[in-house]
Amino acid sequence: MSSLPKTQRSVRINAYGGVDVIKVVTDALVPSPADNEVLVKNTYAGLNFIDTYSRTGLYPAPSFPHTLGREAEGTIAAVGKSVQNFKVGDRVAYLGIGAQQEYTALDPFYVAHVPPAIPEGVAAAGILQGLTALAFARESYEIKNAIGAHVIATASNDQKLAIAQEHGAEFLINYSTQDWVAEVKKITKDAGGGVAAVFDGVGKDTFDGDLEVVRRKGTVVSLGNASGAVPPFAIARLSPKNLKLLRPQLFAYIAERREFEAYTREIFDWIIEGRVKVNIHKAYPLEEVAQAQTVTAHPPHGGAWLTHGATTLGS
Ligand SMILES: NC(=O)c1ccc[n+]([C@@H]2O[C@H](COP(=O)([O-])OP(=O)(O)OC[C@H]3O[C@@H](n4cnc5c(N)ncnc54)[C@H](OP(=O)(O)O)[C@@H]3O)[C@@H](O)[C@H]2O)c1
Repeated sequence: MSSLPKTQRSVRINAYGGVDVIKVVTDALVPSPADNEVLVKNTYAGLNFIDTYSRTGLYPAPSFPHTLGREAEGTIAAVGKSVQNFKVGDRVAYLGIGAQQEYTALDPFYVAHVPPAIPEGVAAAGILQGLTALAFARESYEIKNAIGAHVIATASNDQKLAIAQEHGAEFLINYSTQDWVAEVKKITKDAGGGVAAVFDGVGKDTFDGDLEVVRRKGTVVSLGNASGAVPPFAIARLSPKNLKLLRPQLFAYIAERREFEAYTREIFDWIIEGRVKVNIHKAYPLEEVAQAQTVTAHPPHGGAWLTHGATTLGS
């Protein structure tokens, strides 16, 4: 611990609100890991839509001040006495609270070793989104083999749709210029009258449409709240088509360490093999997280967003 700095830069909120509540402090203490914790020197942290939920209070912070950020990659800088599987210098990525700072102490339950073949930044950009996509596809809808699936992608602009197409979407709907519900019905007219499953991260604004475009006996996976939380609704609305509805969260699929390890290994393997491409749109310095959150809420491009945690470390 002697070579570690005493203080660090940390992206914090002290209250819920707009992006102006985000402050970058330079005198946050570098924590000492507890006996069962590791200390990670973060090189990159992911910027995710969930950061905006933390900032607005939709997902309440455990306490204030609260450090933003839910995923990062870096190297192990110190280990607690009872930690067995990690040592100083190991390259890791993790899911955890307080990732948008230079050093984060955490229980290593959701910390994974990163294979050398994965380029810098990619694990931080890919671990939360990758695990979510893989676990939800496998367990919310039980896609055993994606080969043969026909994917319809919706987005607000053509740039994002081009990315979706590059990643395998067969049909593209720009919902700024097209009626997405009508378009999905048109596309699926001769194939069961609706989609077999909807994966929806938008929430409030699209939930009613989800129930319309899904076919009889289909599945709606409502996985996020980008436009706000879906309000309470009468479950009898599922009856006319005998629909299944899930509102899953990633952590309930990786509650056991073996589940986290299996999904993480698979995602990293797929990245190395090129089966999963992680688009990194831009890396921001920690000081620009507030600005990055403005863009994340209405991004002109698709792809992951990162904040660079260590560029001015120690200076
Ligand atoms: N349940 C879980 O455990 C879990 C885990 C991880 C992520 N998620 C969810 O997965 C979704 C995607 O996460 P992400 O971090 O990758 O976010 P993201 O896709 O980069 O951002 C969310 C997108 O939602 C769209 N959107 C539609 N209506 C919007 C509105 N009114 N305001 C803002 N955005 C709107 C925007 O795309 P367009 O410009 O194309 O409209 C925006 O880019 C989010 O809903 C997130 O909460 C859930």
